[in-house]
Amino acid sequence: MSVSLSSAAPPPYRLSVAPMMDRTDRHFRYVLRQITRRTLLYSEMVTARAVLHGDVERLLGFSAIEGPLVLQLGGDRPAELAAAARLGAALGYDEINLNVGCPSERVQQGRFGACLMAEPALVAECVAALRGAVGVPVTVKHRIGISGHEGYDALTRFVATVAEAGCARFDVHARLALLDGLSPKANRTVPPLRYDVVYQLKRDFPRLCIVLNGGLRTLAEAQSQLAHVDGAMIGRAAYDDPYLLARADRLFFAGTDPVPTRRAVIEALLPYVAALEQSGQPGTRVTRHLLGLLTGRPGARRWRTALSASDGATATERLRALLLALPAAVLDET
Ligand SMILES: Cc1cc2nc3c(=O)[nH]c(=O)nc-3n(C[C@H](O)[C@H](O)[C@H](O)COP(=O)(O)O)c2cc1C
Repeated sequence: MSVSLSSAAPPPYRLSVAPMMDRTDRHFRYVLRQITRRTLLYSEMVTARAVLHGDVERLLGFSAIEGPLVLQLGGDRPAELAAAARLGAALGYDEINLNVGCPSERVQQGRFGACLMAEPALVAECVAALRGAVGVPVTVKHRIGISGHEGYDALTRFVATVAEAGCARFDVHARLALLDGLSPKANRTVPPLRYDVVYQLKRDFPRLCIVLNGGLRTLAEAQSQLAHVDGAMIGRAAYDDPYLLARADRLFFAGTDPVPTRRAVIEALLPYVAALEQSGQPGTRVTRHLLGLLTGRPGARRWRTALSASDGATATERLRALLLALPAAVLDET
């Protein structure tokens, strides 16, 4: 199958961290940037309508260090998406991504998210409007299919139609989305992973940039995907154990900077947390994302318990105390 891709190809990000509501907010992304400078990061999904009617700084604000950074939008109205994307691009997001993978009922009622896989022409219209609005690449995150449109033909029709509109990359969650009653959480575990379908997609659309997502738990697993597709996207594993990304810059982007220790990560976060607290915001907005930083290492439970304690200490004080209390062997290993 051949598809003409008119837009400039996006930089070949071989590794990305998936968009996750309530997780990949600006504070978690700031944390991740102390661990990996080059992995592509995504915002949480923000609906176009929220951007147009809400507090733009609260919804879209970020620190320069968070780039390269993708703004993921949800919506099904081309003009609204275009207007929201324009605001995002003006703020400095490096890409705009359209969510065509979220199966939540709330999202379906708005007729966007995964149910849009049944309407490739509308998604193509949205992509065309986004491309007309911004100069940065426009990409789409989707599933391998949805209830009632499970076949490979439906998937290729979707990808071919959306690619014609100039979508520069497809982030493919290698599962069907079952839109008839299965919760979003179950939709991330119950439908089986079908990496073979994503590999086939890459074979059938060799000129498109295809990124595989779903179920990757380690950098080695992510790396092994690169024999079949252009990039790997890690979601939950990166949240549960963010330090797993410590070697990402070296392994995926030929980086040569020293691998940061956990101590270096925590020390780099101290001024950020302190500034947040000085501005009157709770430092727990950052430290809630740090609970997994010692996953699998001695002291992990102590770390989690101390970070979640409500003993009147500030988050900055708690982090400083933990730097003294935790095993140096864990804080300083790489
Ligand atoms: C808590 C949570 C929130 C999510 N929110 C979004 C979202 O806003 N947009 C989106 O496209 N996918 C969202 N996802 C799906 C992830 O991006 C990813 O596709 C999925 O978790 C599978 O990848 P994984 O197995 O590596 O976690 C979310 C997943 C989780 C666990």
